[in-house]
Amino acid sequence: MHDFYSDTKTKPSTAMRRAVLVADVGDEQKDEDRTTRELCDRVASLLGKEAAVFLPSGTMCNEIAIRVHTKPGDELICERSCHLINFETGGPAALSGVMTHPIDGENGTYTAEQLRAAIRPSSRYSPESRLVSVEQTANMGGGTVWDREQLREVIDAAKDAGLATHMDGARLMNAVVKSGVAAHDWTADIDSCWIDFTKGLGAPVGAVLAGSAEFIRRAWRVKQQIGGAMRQSGILASMCLYALDHNVERLADDHGLASRIATEIGAFAGVERVLPVGTNIVIFDLARSAPSAASVVDSLAHDDIQVGAFGERRIRVVTHLDVDETSGNVLCEALGELLS
Ligand SMILES: Cc1ncc(COP(=O)(O)O)c(C=O)c1O
Repeated sequence: MHDFYSDTKTKPSTAMRRAVLVADVGDEQKDEDRTTRELCDRVASLLGKEAAVFLPSGTMCNEIAIRVHTKPGDELICERSCHLINFETGGPAALSGVMTHPIDGENGTYTAEQLRAAIRPSSRYSPESRLVSVEQTANMGGGTVWDREQLREVIDAAKDAGLATHMDGARLMNAVVKSGVAAHDWTADIDSCWIDFTKGLGAPVGAVLAGSAEFIRRAWRVKQQIGGAMRQSGILASMCLYALDHNVERLADDHGLASRIATEIGAFAGVERVLPVGTNIVIFDLARSAPSAASVVDSLAHDDIQVGAFGERRIRVVTHLDVDETSGNVLCEALGELLS
């Protein structure tokens, strides 16, 4: 199987699984799991924040952060294609009673000017703009790395208006490797942020949400309330620590492969356009003359190749730890047969 559907499809390596055998564990809910504490300390320091909390998933990081930052009836401003609008089953509305205010950005990012236009003036009639979220990298924009200055302006505009700021850092480490900018520089002045271990970093479970000590104290209360507190979570945290030690630098390989795939498929007549490839995600639109995205996905599946259809003519290919140059060749050849 050549699985380019998502970087969530990686399976823990033997070495990563071995880390579990020697993990020091305890009751996480009582703060007695030393491996989990070590992971949280490392991520807090990586992201330049006072504290951090271990959670099962990135979705839970987003949803808990939204709950802590807002109250029902508030508004959350973010880019239209982002995960928390499109793939969290209405979580902001269901779990926090929050309205989302989408900005039509470019490749998953937006400008300070667009943000300022989206922030509501104070009025008896309107929801209160309360929280601003950015996605680093922007998944459906093509793994886009934010322009640093643009991000700084967005965060400044949010702060000037008194809004809290959140970074969905599911693939922040891809941005770090691609840009050479340290994680804590990307997250400076952002109130809450997190990284995911189940994307390119290759672990099976886990994300860590970071912020001020007070933010994390409140995040812990929500975690406890929704049943997210764990017991011997060092079993999981040990694989996340392994990922931090071994799987960050190699993300550059994923970026190289994605870029090569984009160049090859961009030359096929059946491909109308390929979005700029920021990191490890290639998104392309099929020409009218080509088969539909669903039919391309089905045809590839017959050859044991998986990619994702996102819309009638849009396809996403994601590179990661478990696909290599050979898989890339197989994919490009198969797509060439369908789309040349
Ligand atoms: C940008 C982004 N945010 C959040 C998530 C959610 O992460 P998780 O699958 O760990 O819940 C994903 C998952 O693909 C994502 O791509």
